[in-house]
Amino acid sequence: MHDLEAAILARHSTRLFRPNKPVPRQLVDEALELAIHAPSNSNVQPWQVVFTTGPARDRLVKALLAEAQATDPQIPPLPAQFEHYRRDVGKLVYGAMGIARADVAARRLAVLRNWEFFGAPLAGVVCMHRELGHADSLGVGMFLQTFLLALTARGLDSCVQVSIAGYPEIVREQLGISDDMRIMCGVAVGYGVTDFPANTVRSPRNPVSDNVSYLED
Ligand SMILES: Cc1cc2nc3c(=O)[nH]c(=O)nc-3n(C[C@H](O)[C@H](O)[C@H](O)COP(=O)(O)O)c2cc1C
Repeated sequence: MHDLEAAILARHSTRLFRPNKPVPRQLVDEALELAIHAPSNSNVQPWQVVFTTGPARDRLVKALLAEAQATDPQIPPLPAQFEHYRRDVGKLVYGAMGIARADVAARRLAVLRNWEFFGAPLAGVVCMHRELGHADSLGVGMFLQTFLLALTARGLDSCVQVSIAGYPEIVREQLGISDDMRIMCGVAVGYGVTDFPANTVRSPRNPVSDNVSYLED
């Protein structure tokens, strides 16, 4: 039995993986066997995940990179009042990589690494049936977090990536995902490069009281 609190605190987004250090399939399968215990609306178990590795992963990366060099990803913008979170995390991550905000070319190159799954040898795509709704996406999120924690407890690193969902047609075509499925995000899995400064970034959190309130009287 692993320590839950230790896994919660150790999990973080990794943005450079060791491409040649393979991910043991057994560890991923163990994490998945735990993740399916996540709760879901009416026990629908709405998560669908397609993993690619080896040549299939490389083909997906090649197609995504080609598209990312040609067109912008279809990612809805954040509402204005939340935009600062993206800026702040960008500053931390790209700052750790030594990239100044004004250095558009370097930043663009770094952003492109998203569509290489940051070099992770195991690339997952998380989907949900198109006719399911908000309550069901909560179930997908619960599955995903449980999966990430179980991976962390097994010494594996990860990064959830909405950027992968920015090119749904490419993902669909490469992985044979039907139109019934909404592509929600990617998940990169592997062993992080420990001395890559951006991998040591820990994104700050709001104090609990900013996001949670108790009403008693
Ligand atoms: C739904 C979702 C989508 C995300 N998409 C991306 C992404 O496209 N690229 C990226 O570098 N990080 C992505 N992240 C990682 C977040 O930036 C990260 O979780 C957040 O800054 C908190 O940092 P931590 O994961 O290290 O605790 C995503 C995370 C989630 C949950």
